[in-house]
Amino acid sequence: MFWKPTSFGGSFSRLWRTLAFRLTAAYASAGLLLVFLVTLSLYLMLVSELNKSTELFLKDKVNVLRTMLGERPGDADGLHEEVVLESAARRYEQFYICLLDQQGKPVLMTPGMSKELDLARIAPLSAAKHGLAFPMTGRSGQAFRVMTAKAQIGESQNRFLTLQVAVDVSRKEELLARFRLWFWVASAGMLVLFPLIGYQIARQGIRPVEEIAETARRITSSHLSERIVTAGYPYELASLALTFNKMLDGLEDSFERISRFSADIAHDLRTPVNNIRGEAEVALARARTIDEYRDALESSLEEAVRLSDLIGNLLFLARTESPLTHLRLEQVDVSQLLEGVREYYDASAADAGVVLTSTGVSEPVIAELDRTLIQRAVGNLVSNAVVHTLEGGRVAMATHAEAADVFIEVTDTGVGIPPDALPRVFDRFFRVDPSRSKASGGTGLGLAIVQGIMQLHGGSVEITSEPGTGTRVTLRVPSTNARAACY
Ligand SMILES: Nc1ncnc2c1ncn2[C@@H]1O[C@H](COP(=O)(O)OP(=O)(O)OP(=O)(O)O)[C@@H](O)[C@H]1O
Ligand SMILES: [Mg+2]
Repeated sequence: MFWKPTSFGGSFSRLWRTLAFRLTAAYASAGLLLVFLVTLSLYLMLVSELNKSTELFLKDKVNVLRTMLGERPGDADGLHEEVVLESAARRYEQFYICLLDQQGKPVLMTPGMSKELDLARIAPLSAAKHGLAFPMTGRSGQAFRVMTAKAQIGESQNRFLTLQVAVDVSRKEELLARFRLWFWVASAGMLVLFPLIGYQIARQGIRPVEEIAETARRITSSHLSERIVTAGYPYELASLALTFNKMLDGLEDSFERISRFSADIAHDLRTPVNNIRGEAEVALARARTIDEYRDALESSLEEAVRLSDLIGNLLFLARTESPLTHLRLEQVDVSQLLEGVREYYDASAADAGVVLTSTGVSEPVIAELDRTLIQRAVGNLVSNAVVHTLEGGRVAMATHAEAADVFIEVTDTGVGIPPDALPRVFDRFFRVDPSRSKASGGTGLGLAIVQGIMQLHGGSVEITSEPGTGTRVTLRVPSTNARAACY
């Protein structure tokens, strides 16, 4: 049965680390301190009020006796009534009066006074108190307050009596003693009660935190729909829970995208591979002419190019999303960059019967950006615009600087995008009309790549579209790496 200091210390420090214990300790100590201070101040007030009332009583008695002796020195009956009878008539706060002549001999005394008090001690004690009331213990242990004073007899300055007035304050002392006892008993009770109440409050307060933790434990990648019900939570914890729920919304959304993305990748990779395999199987099923072999190889090559484009796009997209990707920033004249893109896509635009223009060359706009990446982003937008614009339509590129940001716009007069599809066009593999886009060779990654490139630049991309009228995509390169200059 040995006390193990280390194990006690260990379990205490474990306990101290719990929020419930700390809050309980804080509530209990604060409560106890508060009760102690309030009770102490009440006690001190009571002591002072009781002392004051005793002092007033003694002063009153002294004044009455002085007046009687001064104004009616011959009124022996009145004096007798005041000193002897009145005291005898009292049940509580018994008081005693003794009148001494100039030689210190008692002239008149309340009966029983010398039995209750050691009169010889009054004079030396009163000398130190200069007319103030002072405490004194009676012969049988009661508490007294005593006051002494001189009282002139009649008009004469030389004749006077010494007044000794003592009042029994043992009932008041008992009251104070009861108060003190009540205080200690109540303190002992509160020492038990406060930690219990504090613990209940603490548990109540941290229950939402435990519920949040419990919900977090239940969440797995296959079980992301779990949410915390915040009804009844205090404001601070409700906002924590809402933030947590929001984070879960984001996670669920990301997981859904990732799993859709994986399914899309598998599907998009399988189609060209199956096509190549089918072509090869058909070609090898029997002997073929040279031309038939050529056709098979050509269509296999087409599929292989499509496959390699898809893989290239996926790799590129992965690179734009990697935090390790570094931009090769340089000062670029965006107007010239657009002109370069226009030249590159001119032939395909002409094939589609679409007029491709780039404006803003007259006014150079300089920005700090990764030339190759922005060229690719704008190229993706132009290729989309050309593919989705009917013969005779127009595709225009423009740039301008505004509040130190550089904007690049690609506008077309094409078929437009339905409003319900618009929020999803930046999703990977999303195509408004999959069959049509596939025919035109789209992988559904172009706009996702544009978004990735703009995020790498700390910029953004916005799209507005009206079916039948056309589409406008705006790229914003932010001020940190953008600078407009007019030569
Ligand atoms: N200018 C536009 N006009 C009409 N529809 C557009 C336009 N730009 C994009 N879209 C729609 O958004 C979809 C997604 O575009 P995105 O560039 O991401 O893929 P894609 O062009 O189909 O394939 P990829 O660009 O990878 O070859 C397109 O399939 C098309 O339906
Ligand atoms: Mg595209």
